[in-house]
Amino acid sequence: MELKDAMLGRRSIRFYKTGKISQADIQAIIAAANMAPSWKNSQTPRYYVATSEEAMNKVREALPERNTENTKNAAALIVMTFERGRAGFMKNGLPDNEVGDGWGFFDNGLACQNLVLKAYELGYGSLIMGIRDEQVLRENCSIPASQIITAVISLGVADIDPTAPKRKEVEDIMVSLG
Ligand SMILES: Cc1cc2nc3c(=O)[nH]c(=O)nc-3n(C[C@H](O)[C@H](O)[C@H](O)COP(=O)(O)O)c2cc1C
Repeated sequence: MELKDAMLGRRSIRFYKTGKISQADIQAIIAAANMAPSWKNSQTPRYYVATSEEAMNKVREALPERNTENTKNAAALIVMTFERGRAGFMKNGLPDNEVGDGWGFFDNGLACQNLVLKAYELGYGSLIMGIRDEQVLRENCSIPASQIITAVISLGVADIDPTAPKRKEVEDIMVSLG
């Protein structure tokens, strides 16, 4: 698949067909996520992967009703986190600049984009969910305090072909510096 096809064709998928995901596909998706650039190649994103109904239901406990419904028949739920205090920080523990752990969020987003594009290439739809309960995820997935929790991502075979929500025009978001 060409990159432009993945970039244009990927959509947030909120309806899935029943289906499983192979461990080989999970490995390929996480490996692609980990090829994303990161602060000083610090590779701080972490992935908690639920594929059994039991494990997915534990993750669902952290989702509001709408997001839970939207993960029905999903083949996997992935909780993304990152190691705090590393991306954006020097060896002495001080932040390189004012952004601090914001660079960890930055790297997490880059990795997440690779993740959902690779999933799309392998035939899976995805939904990134930022509306989730951090404490429930931490407890149910045994996520240590050293990691900051970002999003839950569902993966599955799409049962819908949504049209792309409208994007802003380039001239509305780009400032030419000449
Ligand atoms: C950081 C982030 C958090 C999001 N959280 C949610 C969410 O909690 N629930 C949901 O239904 N969609 C969520 N979305 C999906 C967005 O609504 C969606 O990406 C946007 O409307 C554009 O649609 P598209 O992904 O099909 O291009 C989230 C997306 C991002 C990037």
